[in-house]
Amino acid sequence: LRLYAACGKHAARDLKKLAKSHRRTPDASRREYEQRWQRQARDRRWMAAPTLAEAQALSSYGDETLTALIDFRPYAIGARDFFRWRSRKIVAIFSALFERSKPIVEIGCGLGKNLFALASGGFSNLSGFDVSPTAVAAVRDQAQHFGVAIEAARLDVLAPDSETVAGFSDAVIFTNHVLEQLPRDLEAALDALCACDASEVVHLEPCFELLRPTRSMIDAVTALHTVACDYQRTLLSALKRRERRGAIRLLDVRPLGYSPRLINAPTLIRWRKL
Ligand SMILES: C[S@@+](CC[C@H](N)C(=O)[O-])C[C@H]1O[C@@H](n2cnc3c(N)ncnc32)[C@H](O)[C@@H]1O
Repeated sequence: LRLYAACGKHAARDLKKLAKSHRRTPDASRREYEQRWQRQARDRRWMAAPTLAEAQALSSYGDETLTALIDFRPYAIGARDFFRWRSRKIVAIFSALFERSKPIVEIGCGLGKNLFALASGGFSNLSGFDVSPTAVAAVRDQAQHFGVAIEAARLDVLAPDSETVAGFSDAVIFTNHVLEQLPRDLEAALDALCACDASEVVHLEPCFELLRPTRSMIDAVTALHTVACDYQRTLLSALKRRERRGAIRLLDVRPLGYSPRLINAPTLIRWRKL
């Protein structure tokens, strides 16, 4: 019952949004997130967490009970438990792929929840970049509070400066729900990522092309949400086109089936420039 209610609520909200035919532009997205991060960073909620491990439970959802997706199944779960689980999941994904000393560069890192999850899992060479100055300041503030060496700086993935990018050549570049923000600028973002010469690129991004809305109610509300928010819908096909041209090699495409709100689960997509 709770699942139907949650799906109905998401659908009603997204149908209203759809009626306004919201068109996402890089500028609008940048403004939206700058405002969001200003609101969320204002109370510096991480100051209440004495250790990095305890900070993994914190989120903007506070103590809410979520209808969340975990391993493709819906659960009613407290936000703190969900975010503890999510933090361990991020560490499990990266530790299955990379040594803990591997340089990991997150582009569009927001307030840094993925970077701090990886730091709590023992990853030691982490840096984060975001177009939002508030996000960058918040990552630096938390790194200082928890005594971890995470570098943070401002970077626009659509106009990265060559000096910063030169430092990414041995790194894994990682995006989590960032390319979703750039529906009509996806090719420009992929060009910029290719130009970084990273050892590998890892996306945890929604993958519209893999949704089966006629078979799954969760996929149906996710598809509606993606269209209503005007998130990108073509990442996988764009990467496959580049693979056919011999520009990249796709290494892995794997839906992950988790989300705090059912409607935005990411797919793991890994590729390497050839
Ligand atoms: C949905 S949030 C994800 C944040 C973070 N990756 C996470 O998982 O918590 C999207 C992030 O992308 C950033 N972003 C949007 N456009 C960007 C751009 N052109 N270059 C770099 N970051 C961008 C936003 O400021 C925001 O922090």
